[in-house]
Amino acid sequence: MLDHSMSLRRFLTACRSVSRSGAMAIVVCVLMAAAALAAALFVAPAPLQAQGAGGSMRAHMGVASCAGSTCHGHSVGDGTPVRQDELLRWQEESSPTGAHSRAYRAIQEARGQAIIRRMGLDGAGVGRECLGCHTTTGAQKVADGVDCEACHGNAGGWLSTHYTVGASHQRNVSQGMTDLVNPRVRAQVCLDCHLSGDGPGQFVAHRIMAAGHPRVSFELDLFSTLQQHHNEDADYAARKGGKTDSMRMWAVGQAEAVKRSMELFSEPGKANDGIFPEFTFYDCHSCHRRIYDGEQASVSVLPNPGRPIHAGMPPFNDENMIMLLAAAKVVAPDIAATFDARSKAFHRAMGEGRSQSVAAAQALRQTADALSARFAGTPFSKAQTFAIMDAIASNAISDRFTDYEGSVQSVMAIDTLLNGLVNQGMVSTGAANGLRVQINQAYSAVREPNSYQPLAFRRALGGAIGSIRSLR
Ligand code: HEC
Ligand code: HEC
Ligand code: HEC
Ligand code: HEC
Repeated sequence: MLDHSMSLRRFLTACRSVSRSGAMAIVVCVLMAAAALAAALFVAPAPLQAQGAGGSMRAHMGVASCAGSTCHGHSVGDGTPVRQDELLRWQEESSPTGAHSRAYRAIQEARGQAIIRRMGLDGAGVGRECLGCHTTTGAQKVADGVDCEACHGNAGGWLSTHYTVGASHQRNVSQGMTDLVNPRVRAQVCLDCHLSGDGPGQFVAHRIMAAGHPRVSFELDLFSTLQQHHNEDADYAARKGGKTDSMRMWAVGQAEAVKRSMELFSEPGKANDGIFPEFTFYDCHSCHRRIYDGEQASVSVLPNPGRPIHAGMPPFNDENMIMLLAAAKVVAPDIAATFDARSKAFHRAMGEGRSQSVAAAQALRQTADALSARFAGTPFSKAQTFAIMDAIASNAISDRFTDYEGSVQSVMAIDTLLNGLVNQGMVSTGAANGLRVQINQAYSAVREPNSYQPLAFRRALGGAIGSIRSLR
């Protein structure tokens, strides 16, 4: 299951079965296949948030305690009020819904072992470098990988009461269940492993990348859908205060990722590796680029107005900052200018010194937090969602697509936002399906990181967004 072709197969299967609308599912598959085929993705770094409502203070109960045949261990999803086949979906390896159950096995198998060998890690080293993301902290059984409680919170306080008469989501949360319905809480849980976290063994340093780890690309709403093991039916909406608002999930996910990245970057222990800066924070292709130093010295880097730094310095990976600015311009215009100024100040400070950069990171984090809070309390209207897509296509934003990572993030954004419009009944499935060709063109433009062409990418993205505009 570890080589790229197998990852590709996983995604193609997912495309057919995942609950996104038909057209979007195909699109997702194309991108994910692209990401899987590329030897490595990127990673951004991250933060300090503990899981939900004190889950980690309670006892970890283990998968077996969720798996009873009258609980989450049904063989078909016929339960009420929840499907009750969640265990099976979590275990289903032919689909991304099953990715977490095999997270520990991934490091036991050939690709994982090759990474471990290249890094020269012994058992303790694997614990220090890998297990925080490939197992569940506090679990007795590491082989269960990323288990139910890794996301839902340690169940010691609520296992025996969460389904009894009088149970409600609110009561469960008060007893220590993680409130994954809250987009800010969910983002923080996922980012621990899908960006990096503060727990032991939760940091994808460049050393791990250089040993052959796949890049870690993440978008909260898209990845939530890919691993979804519940039905968003009327009953779910009644119990959880409505269906998932994908646009909001996306926007909060961007804000939390910027926060996380600033928090990790600010930690003294993560800033450097020996005498070098920790490369994982920077745009991969700024270093992994071909050299043209012949007579007609054609410089391949494009000007990027969002990053006021000198040529020759690796730019901080700002994929989430770009998306967040697009959302802020539309939904929080009063904060957008400050956010824009602070993200530029952060890039500028990178050329000045460590203390200046950390101060700028803290200021930027604060603004990202204000945006996260604002988005979390806002329903996103149809008009706003279209306006965000227009903002992403506008020159002010698309001039900043000079690197692969930001471009991948923008394609995931278009996919998620269109899918959100369909889910909210604001655009018909048929109309969205009609745009498959244009959206697939945008995906193709980021299929292969090593032949990524910024200008061709911008054209493809503009084409896709232009077509989506016709649905207004
Ligand atoms: C910050 C969390 C984090 C750390 C630390 C981490 N990983 Fe991963 N790893 C991930 C994530 C997330 C993925 C899935 C990436 C994707 O497809 O989006 C992954 C994927 C992988 C894969 C590919 C799995 C597959 O199904 O193809 C292997 C192999 C792997 N990791 C091994 C390791 C090893 C070995 C270490 C320690 C040296 C390690 N990882 C450290 C988060 C982490
Ligand atoms: C990678 C994180 C993650 C893992 C691992 C995970 N879940 Fe979930 N689960 C979620 C998210 C996110 C939701 C949707 C938000 C919500 O309703 O809580 C969800 C929803 C659910 C629901 C529906 C809740 C409802 O009120 O309708 C059930 C039941 C569930 N999960 C059970 C499980 C079980 C059992 C396992 C382990 C076999 C598991 N989950 C593993 C993240 C996860
Ligand atoms: C404790 C760490 C951890 C947490 C928390 C976590 N993940 Fe993961 N996730 C992983 C690892 C490791 C993998 C790769 C496993 C593999 O491919 O073998 C993964 C894989 C995935 C995949 C499949 C991607 C692929 O390339 O196949 C999806 C989708 C995903 N996670 C979504 C989420 C979402 C959404 C959340 C939050 C609700 C979340 N994860 C929380 C560690 C984690
Ligand atoms: C600041 C410069 C810099 C940045 C940014 C950077 N790298 Fe590297 N990378 C290096 C150097 C230096 C090496 C070691 C090359 C050598 O050993 O000859 C390396 C090695 C690697 C290798 C091993 C290549 C090989 O053929 O052995 C991989 C894979 C890799 N990096 C991936 C990444 C990814 C993914 C990112 C973005 C998250 C990234 N790098 C960001 C400088 C960088």
